Amino acid sequence: ATATPLAGKKLLVTAGGTREALDPVRFLTNRSSGKMGYAVAAAAQQAGADVTLITAPTRLSAPSGVTVVPIESTQDLEQAVISRLPKADGVIMAAAVADFQPLHQAEQKIKKSADNDQLVLTLKKTPDILREVAQRKRVDQVVVGFAAETQDLLANAQKKLATKHLDLLVANDVSQAGIGFNGDNNQVTFLFKDGHRDQTPITSKRAIATALIEHVAKIFTEK
Ligand code: PMT
Repeated sequence: ATATPLAGKKLLVTAGGTREALDPVRFLTNRSSGKMGYAVAAAAQQAGADVTLITAPTRLSAPSGVTVVPIESTQDLEQAVISRLPKADGVIMAAAVADFQPLHQAEQKIKKSADNDQLVLTLKKTPDILREVAQRKRVDQVVVGFAAETQDLLANAQKKLATKHLDLLVANDVSQAGIGFNGDNNQVTFLFKDGHRDQTPITSKRAIATALIEHVAKIFTEK
């Protein structure tokens, strides 16, 4: 095998947890640190790819040699991915994307009032970016999704693989302490289109990213 199996391939990698603004100073988000997506970006860059890392705010510094596109909301992420899709050879969606956003974003800071002990937030669905990618995807493009689940991991992941027409789905059980969100380690099951599955041991996100990129390189050779 060559050391740079992804040479010449333009890859979009998403990372981190999107932020959905409630008002000018507050937002809804999740526990994603960005570590998994940054590890994937670094592994892809080392494999020779031209990597654009589309990232929600994180505490991490970007891997060297990678183009960074900062975003905050799911809508920002959608715009960043969809606008770059035509020129990309592949997309790897490791970001933890909000499924809901506030129906209204208050223009001024939301205030407490003496007669109100409760505040009810109304949320609406965010755009499903992977679904849009699936609709626009050319046959030569490789699309990889992640699935973060706390129950029925493989059944839900299998559904996402099929309905979103993915080449590969990385199923991440996020109910177990020490893996998934935020930690340095992870354990995932790779689900391939042909029905075959491959579970990794608990290992570093770096090692999982390297394994993922090897699978992606193989999928490109089969296109
Ligand atoms: O960042 P870390 O702390 O290292 O944690 C890593 C991780 C747990 C966030 C990562 O491994 C992971 O599982 N990321 C996907 C999290 C997620 O949003 O999963 P989901 O099952 O809700 O979404 C499924 C897929 O659809 C994902 O690829 C997601 O990017 C995508 N999606 C989700 C919602 C939406 N509106 N549009 C999308 O495209």
